[in-house]
Amino acid sequence: MNIYGRDFAKVYNAKWAFWGPKMWSFLSHLVAKKHPQASKWLDLCCGAGSLLRLIDDNGFEATGVDISRHQVQHARQNALGATLVVQDVRQLSLDRKFDVVTCMFDSLNYLTTKQDLLKTFRKVNRHLSRSGIFAFDMNTFEGLQDQWCRTSTTHEPNLTLIVESSFNPTRAIGRCLITGFIRTGTRYRRFQEEHLERGYRAREIEDLLSRAGFEFRKYDGNSLVRPRKRSGRLLYVCRKAAQTKLSI
Ligand SMILES: C[S@@+](CC[C@H](N)C(=O)[O-])C[C@H]1O[C@@H](n2cnc3c(N)ncnc32)[C@H](O)[C@@H]1O
Repeated sequence: MNIYGRDFAKVYNAKWAFWGPKMWSFLSHLVAKKHPQASKWLDLCCGAGSLLRLIDDNGFEATGVDISRHQVQHARQNALGATLVVQDVRQLSLDRKFDVVTCMFDSLNYLTTKQDLLKTFRKVNRHLSRSGIFAFDMNTFEGLQDQWCRTSTTHEPNLTLIVESSFNPTRAIGRCLITGFIRTGTRYRRFQEEHLERGYRAREIEDLLSRAGFEFRKYDGNSLVRPRKRSGRLLYVCRKAAQTKLSI
């Protein structure tokens, strides 16, 4: 099943494109402090382009990549100066390097095998300039276990949305079934998408980062301070290994 199709991308753009702006203050301070000369910024899994717009508005050369052409269409309208590419991050191939690479809002949890996550980390490493910064967040195993166990419904005049989530701890896979009814005139159009996310444990993410040639510092992905034992989301700030010692 394709995800982030026409209807859900529209709903996402209207309701869920808040994470990039929420992270902007942290990310922009990080880049200003740790890589003040940075100019080229790549946002992977850019979604509807809410972070990309800020990257662009703040004078960076902004590039966004997403696998969904519908998300990319919204990103084009939201971040007018950005270059946008429809591409699977597992096959990332842009033929240039970037000073900053971001991938936010648990997008990498969509890669449900360690091989795919490792392959993607390696692609990112190849696209990063020598002193570049790579920042991403992910839901952890514990986060999906604690959070993906509920049903929520939204009723609005033109939209009804049902979001049902569950987590299989044996497979470490969370399933989120999104069913929507969008009103068009006097009728409702139904759409449904099944989203699967893998809940990685911190040590699994960190092993893959090391194997891909990164050193890193981690934060609790919600409070942006030191991680807790059961942080539901972790944010990693990475640099190529064997560069000057990390002081992020
Ligand atoms: C939860 S959204 C996050 C979007 C955006 N980063 C944000 O903060 O709003 C996840 C995004 O990842 C994209 N995505 C999932 N798997 C992908 C893949 N293999 N390659 C590229 N994009 C992918 C989806 O199309 C979707 O736009």
